[in-house]
Amino acid sequence: MAQLSAQIVSYDEEFKRQVSKLLRACGVPIGIVEGRSLEGAAPDLVVVDIRADASSGMASIERLRAASGTMAIFAVAGAAEPDLILQAMRAGANEFFPWTAGAQTQASRAMEESFHGAVRRTSTRREAANAGAKPPCVTHAFLGAKGGAGTTTVAVNCGVELARLTKRSTIVLDMKACLGEVALFLGVRPRFTVLDAIENLHRLDKDFLKELVAKHKSGLDILAGSEQFDRPAAQDAPAIEELMRVLTRMYDYVIIDAGNVISSCVAATLFSADTIFLVTNPDVPSIRNAQRLVERVRQLGAGSERVKVLVNRASDQLLIGAKQIETALGYGIHHTFPSDYRTVSTALNSGVPLTLSTNSEIAAQFDSFTRQLVGMASSSGGSETKTEVERKRVFLGIF
Ligand SMILES: Nc1ncnc2c1ncn2[C@@H]1O[C@H](COP(=O)(O)OP(=O)(O)O)[C@@H](O)[C@H]1O
Ligand SMILES: [Mg+2]
Repeated sequence: MAQLSAQIVSYDEEFKRQVSKLLRACGVPIGIVEGRSLEGAAPDLVVVDIRADASSGMASIERLRAASGTMAIFAVAGAAEPDLILQAMRAGANEFFPWTAGAQTQASRAMEESFHGAVRRTSTRREAANAGAKPPCVTHAFLGAKGGAGTTTVAVNCGVELARLTKRSTIVLDMKACLGEVALFLGVRPRFTVLDAIENLHRLDKDFLKELVAKHKSGLDILAGSEQFDRPAAQDAPAIEELMRVLTRMYDYVIIDAGNVISSCVAATLFSADTIFLVTNPDVPSIRNAQRLVERVRQLGAGSERVKVLVNRASDQLLIGAKQIETALGYGIHHTFPSDYRTVSTALNSGVPLTLSTNSEIAAQFDSFTRQLVGMASSSGGSETKTEVERKRVFLGIF
């Protein structure tokens, strides 16, 4: 799904924070932006605060409407006064909300629900308007339940498979704070990192980005992790959000290695992701941490319905069974990757991704996982349809 870009026009920082939270809990990938993008594209949705000063609020709405006939404009007022509603609609607003969010009353819940509904309608309308155009970018974030769960392994191999199978532009972004290993796993030496990208956002167009990324022979682009221990830090989160906006406009697939800590920068990437793959191992510490991460994603409002659980390093003697994992996390297991240290570490040490080097079961699992992501039939099945493959998998109890 394409990311919806939203701007909040207000002088009240607390209001901006609350509206951001409300927007992010709508169930659609969203990026909060400060205005037009580098290429001059207007945001898809603008929330205008008209509570303190209705006349300057109306002027903002008129200016926005004059600049774009298609953007959705939501006016937020202190109360639902009929005169104000009429003025806002005349100025060009599509929706009007009396601000009651966070009050925990029935009225505030109703307001939040109708706000969410309006955002989702905006997203659907935008999809319909863009139908037939270039398919929207799909963003998959991989978040580890703990260090060593195999997040980088899964993210990197999925990225390579996506680039290889679809031949569409794909980038993997290493968000692990300090010493990310994505480039290392792929055997490439990056000259630049994510910090160079966020420090040069004002000139981050296609040509400049081409200079910053390292190329893998599968076709996958890599934006390597920062080499500084203390960056990207909390103050870089808005720049990371903007970087996501740029990447999702330039690529067909964006893969994020989010590491295993939800910092504010990682949260910024999760908000814009279509899917958040939680990578866990079948052991007690991983499951306990996974429970906490699931809860954190829910608290952030980053779309917990987009969370999918991946079990990595599963062996025949699962210490914790699939059913137990599913009950503990409240999610079904989306895919399971077997434990195969020898194959994985050989691939890692040689810098050659699994799927390009072996015919092992784990390589086959990456192939089928990625094919399922893009709706392709299984390579072994030849003419099998996707539904047939899925039915068989269900039968085999893999999911
Ligand atoms: N399915 C697997 N079977 C066996 N070993 C694995 C598997 N996946 C990852 N590993 C190993 O676990 C270690 C940590 O993997 P990595 O992807 O770096 O984890 P993370 O990014 O979550 O810290 C690596 O040495 C890797 O070879
Ligand atoms: Mg890692």
